[in-house]
Amino acid sequence: MAAKIIDGKAISQAVKDEVTKGVAELKEKTGVQAALAVVLVGEDPASQVYVRNKGIACEKCGIKSIEHKLPADTTQAALNKLVEDLNNDDSVHGILVQLPLPKGLSDDEVLNLINPAKDVDGFHPINVGKFLTIKKYADIQASGVFLPCTPHGCIELLDRSGVDLNGANAVVVGRSNIVGKPVSLLLMSKNATVTIAHSRTKDLPGLIKSADVVVAAIGMPEFVKGEWIKPGAAIIDVGINRMPPKEEGGKDRLVGDVEYEAAAAVAGCITPVPGGVGPMTIAMLMKNTLQSATQFAAKK
Ligand code: GUN
Repeated sequence: MAAKIIDGKAISQAVKDEVTKGVAELKEKTGVQAALAVVLVGEDPASQVYVRNKGIACEKCGIKSIEHKLPADTTQAALNKLVEDLNNDDSVHGILVQLPLPKGLSDDEVLNLINPAKDVDGFHPINVGKFLTIKKYADIQASGVFLPCTPHGCIELLDRSGVDLNGANAVVVGRSNIVGKPVSLLLMSKNATVTIAHSRTKDLPGLIKSADVVVAAIGMPEFVKGEWIKPGAAIIDVGINRMPPKEEGGKDRLVGDVEYEAAAAVAGCITPVPGGVGPMTIAMLMKNTLQSATQFAAKK
């Protein structure tokens, strides 16, 4: 039987609709206008697209979007000063510095400077540390910590598709700080038994054959083969790999980390690429910005 397609566009829209409602209610009840500051340094085309899409999403959700575009030769001191100014600006609830930064600027230095209470990316070590020490998913949500957007989006897709993680065997392929590690913690907080696989893992096909849930985040096109998938498994494909056109004169193609057609023939449900995890990242960023504005309003 063919897998159910997990529609990331529809699910991200549902999340954004909830955020839109929450932003309006917050303003009505407290007068607080949720606001997100996005800092883009340099002219990386992919980063420009991300930043533009974040601005569009903010507008749709009723969140004030403040964009700071700085030249590629910006100094670390100037970037740090901007972040400190945004930290001190009470009308800004979320700060996101678009990564990667141009050569010569330190991602870590600037991420560490962001006020953890405005760290809607969930990348500040204080947020990472708090998240690490919380055991149950419900407690994470109540703690006020910001969850990183892409891993949180993966869990939201599974939840809203009715996938039961309680006691499930989950295999996460990839051990990055941005996806692999945090998504593993989230799956564990939902009572899944989690194995983190990576480039040195032995018998990956055998391991994946035992998985009720697979999260592929290794950044290699069609790395996970359809024949490795256990019938009925839930497949979340985080990969976005740009590939040359199949025919001369055609368009570039985006493919995931999973061999989609072959996996969809055996899986229970699967995210497509594009239109799966991708749209969830920005939706969860909107959710985090509302969370931050709500927390600020409560402290006023
Ligand atoms: N670059 C690509 N994805 C992201 C993200 O989620 N956050 C930031 N800050 N930079 C990115």
